[in-house]
Amino acid sequence: MDKSVIVCRCEEISYEEIEEVINQGGRTFDDIKRITRCGMGACQSKICSKLVAEVIHKQTGLSMEQIYPPRFRMPISPVSLEALATDSQQFSTVKSVLDEIELTDGKVK
Ligand code: FES
Repeated sequence: MDKSVIVCRCEEISYEEIEEVINQGGRTFDDIKRITRCGMGACQSKICSKLVAEVIHKQTGLSMEQIYPPRFRMPISPVSLEALATDSQQFSTVKSVLDEIELTDGKVK
């Protein structure tokens, strides 16, 4: 594969950048994510996670079953701020955090 190929389109991370992290000891998607921002784009790694796993597999020889998927954090799908602020049944954890935020002149205290 051409090393300039973009693997993570959202963050514009190339095959070469991922390979470099692996050469420095990275073995998981999260290792690569922490160093390159790969997987932190708008799609939250839905597009690039399998491609990165294939790069890890190719470079390290680890089987695909040994390569863990990226760690996901809430919210898993896009949510509007209005829904977070008003739909307390569905987003009770987020709502309780928002309730604790105090604003002064539109800024968080
Ligand atoms: S393609 Fe990697 S985060 Fe979207």
